[in-house]
Amino acid sequence: MAQTPSPATDEKLPTVIQGGMGAAVSNWVLAKQVSQAGQLGVVSGVALDTVVARRLQDGDPGGHIRRAFAAFPVQEVAERALEKFFRPGGRERDQAYVPVPNLTISPVARSRELQILSAFAEVWLAKEGHDGVVGINMLEKIQLAIVPGLYGAMLAGVDYVLVGAGIPSKIPRLLDQLARHEQSDMEIHVDGATQTYATSLDPDLVVPRGTLPPLKRPKMLAIISSHPLAAYLTKETITTPDGFVVEGHVAGGHNTPPRGRMTITDEGEPVYGTRDEADLAKIAKYGLPFWVAGAYATPEHVAEARAMGAVGVQVGTIFALSSDSGTTPENRQKLLDALAEDRLQVKTDALASPTGFPFKVVPMDGTIGGDETYAARGRICDLAYLRTPFERSPGKLGYRCPSEPEDDYVRKGGELENTVGRKCLCNGLMATVGMPQVRAGIEEDALLTLGSDLTAAKELLRRHPNGWNARQALDYLLGGPALEQAPRQDLALAAR
Ligand SMILES: Cc1cc2nc3c(=O)[nH]c(=O)nc-3n(C[C@H](O)[C@H](O)[C@H](O)COP(=O)(O)O)c2cc1C
Repeated sequence: MAQTPSPATDEKLPTVIQGGMGAAVSNWVLAKQVSQAGQLGVVSGVALDTVVARRLQDGDPGGHIRRAFAAFPVQEVAERALEKFFRPGGRERDQAYVPVPNLTISPVARSRELQILSAFAEVWLAKEGHDGVVGINMLEKIQLAIVPGLYGAMLAGVDYVLVGAGIPSKIPRLLDQLARHEQSDMEIHVDGATQTYATSLDPDLVVPRGTLPPLKRPKMLAIISSHPLAAYLTKETITTPDGFVVEGHVAGGHNTPPRGRMTITDEGEPVYGTRDEADLAKIAKYGLPFWVAGAYATPEHVAEARAMGAVGVQVGTIFALSSDSGTTPENRQKLLDALAEDRLQVKTDALASPTGFPFKVVPMDGTIGGDETYAARGRICDLAYLRTPFERSPGKLGYRCPSEPEDDYVRKGGELENTVGRKCLCNGLMATVGMPQVRAGIEEDALLTLGSDLTAAKELLRRHPNGWNARQALDYLLGGPALEQAPRQDLALAAR
């Protein structure tokens, strides 16, 4: 039961999608394990330029990034990045990481190169040495990273692109254009815009035209939470994805806000109702393959999903907790200890994310999910992936993030009330995967996210009291050893 013929074609489709988990929780190591086991391994495309630049500054243990860079079609691009970021032997632990340029609508050449190169490297490593399928996950909310990220991933032969946290209507056209190495423009949402704004990538500036034949056009799966969005996306061919991941609000990471006006409980959680449940029968009518996500992580759920017409399931939490994920062993152990002692909580925080979307937070002491640690962190926005562009004057843009210092945000025309309760996801998530920024010798604290249903994680812990790896999670989900097992390589530490 590992693979299923697609309703639309004969092609084999994976039963299990290991969901994209940013930043670098679903890194190339995890995605490779899943992919080698015959299912769809997905690398996170979130903040990959920072992830790759920091791995290089940590000395690139195992030489993985340098090996991937050596396969990039234009070596001068790879050499420039190595020169800027690679520190043989790694930086001192108390030394700050060198920043990468922030995303803007018209990035400087080095920034564009690094974004393409880092997406290339992560996908290339996940695909190295086997012929399993690999996907990349991107967030529509981080619009400015999408076009270069897609192109880099496609240069490495990515098989699937999965996009959520917004309305991914522009992605199918971008994939068509980028496969032909054509200039690709993407309209950008700008607060207070009096005109339209677009970000543009001319691949010729990085990979000179004629260097490569056309690229494989990956399949695009739209991550949606409701059937009206499926109806909207399938109205025109140019916006129609190749399939859907239908994700409920119990899933880890960001969640779609409730429909209508958001009501928030005293505990700070959004209230969801029956209108927020996707109607799978309606989604099935579009004839596209679909997977269900969010508390579909037991073998029974896999059977249930298939009985409802889904090809399979997308699963996050049990892979995030596996020893192959990018989560540091210390953070993972804290989560597993709490799980074993039945004190692991997951809160749907209506305010934490600067995007305004609810975000699942583990409210654990010593992480910025815990109130005291959050309160002790001064507001600093330097990674800036979740900034929103706003119009300063016609044709001129500024950028602001609700989790930056309140005064700065208000000076840029933001509403003070929009800053309340916002957390710095960017720095917190980098710390989760062992690459915290260091300021005056002090490391940023982690921010942990998981899905709110822990049934499958508890069962895996019962079976594997010392923790489990991605293969064991797949064995459990598929009710037996995953198919097409290749020899296991223990690479989890090497990726950090
Ligand atoms: C640690 C973590 C990070 C996540 N980050 C992302 C992300 O960056 N993009 C995304 O589309 N989904 C993200 N998700 C959602 C997963 O891809 C998946 O759909 C979801 O976790 C499935 O629900 P489950 O956790 O109940 O299995 C994340 C989930 C977790 C647990």
